[in-house]
Amino acid sequence: MFYQDAPFLKNAPYLSTLIYNPNHIGCHTLGKSESFFKGTQKIEKELIEICSKAILKGKGDFDGYVASGGTEANMQAIWMYRNYFLQEKQADIGEIVILSSADAHYSSPKAANILNLDIEEIPVNYKDRKMSYKDCLNVIKDQKAQGKRFFICIANMMTTMFGSVDDVGILTRALQSAAVEYKVHVDGAYGGFFHPFSSINTDLDFSNDEVSSVTLDAHKMLQAPYGTGIFLCRKGLIHYANTEKASYVEGEDYTVIGSRSGANAVAVWMILMTYGSHGWYEKVLILLNRTDWLCQQLDALNIKYFRQSASNIVTIQSDQLSNEIAYKYGLVPDNHNSPKWYKAVIMDHVTVEKMQPLIDDIKNLVILSNDE
Ligand SMILES: Cc1ncc(COP(=O)(O)O)c(C=O)c1O
Repeated sequence: MFYQDAPFLKNAPYLSTLIYNPNHIGCHTLGKSESFFKGTQKIEKELIEICSKAILKGKGDFDGYVASGGTEANMQAIWMYRNYFLQEKQADIGEIVILSSADAHYSSPKAANILNLDIEEIPVNYKDRKMSYKDCLNVIKDQKAQGKRFFICIANMMTTMFGSVDDVGILTRALQSAAVEYKVHVDGAYGGFFHPFSSINTDLDFSNDEVSSVTLDAHKMLQAPYGTGIFLCRKGLIHYANTEKASYVEGEDYTVIGSRSGANAVAVWMILMTYGSHGWYEKVLILLNRTDWLCQQLDALNIKYFRQSASNIVTIQSDQLSNEIAYKYGLVPDNHNSPKWYKAVIMDHVTVEKMQPLIDDIKNLVILSNDE
């Protein structure tokens, strides 16, 4: 169907893999997979190892796969833990609840709906977007009183709207104090390729024994092609997501998705290899410097905004801007119908030269409103 002999394909591994079209169905870290696609499966296995060990400081062995995106990877985790509680703890489905902060991504309520699970949010403070120990404990105790015994917790490594980072220790201490069973999944779909480089002492990774699985998304900060979510978990868990009926698939299936392109693993592997860990770290530093610049300009104009330390997202209160300015610069609202916040994500293309006109427009707005 697609022309295979174009000379440029020889030096374009991602494009030529797309054309060869290997099917990466299944989970290749388990050892047995479709034998026709060994070459690209090996690259995916290496990618899972780099992410779980080199980036997320894991010791020991891990399973994982390249998923369609952050939504699927979060759903995979929730599905896996739901089955773990059902099979190992003889839980009734009504005794299991998903717990996340109010700022968590909508993929958790989506997974709750698909997997027929209840979900509960823990409020966050308006100013620092943090959950308090007291609120965590209150929500957990309240859920316990309603018959919940098993908690699937989603901790955020940079939320979509604020870039905020959960204090996972507060959450696990509250769970322990309430004497309930739990598993912790880290949603690093946004921050997984940023936070570990900007905050090297983070405990939202596999150096923390409380963390059993993590979502990363290469098609966000890493700018990989779409279809490059990454699901990672400690060994001994992924078989709870096994579909034995997949008997025609060599090695069976342990994923939400089924058939998927091996080219996606090649793309992410190539991006990471091209930067190298130091190259990517330098890139993160540049983005942090530019974010500092934007914040300094906003401070000088007395504009109210939220920024998590060491993050590249700046979220401005909507009353500090006009809708026209937000629209002109493509700032993302928290709600398209009645925005309370607009965010700017400082990525590769968001240079100081590109941000200066935004600051000039905000300055003019401030001057106009002072004149009124
Ligand atoms: C924190 C977080 N989790 C999950 C997702 C879902 O990712 P995807 O759109 O790749 O499914 C997003 C997307 O913005 C996100 O920011």
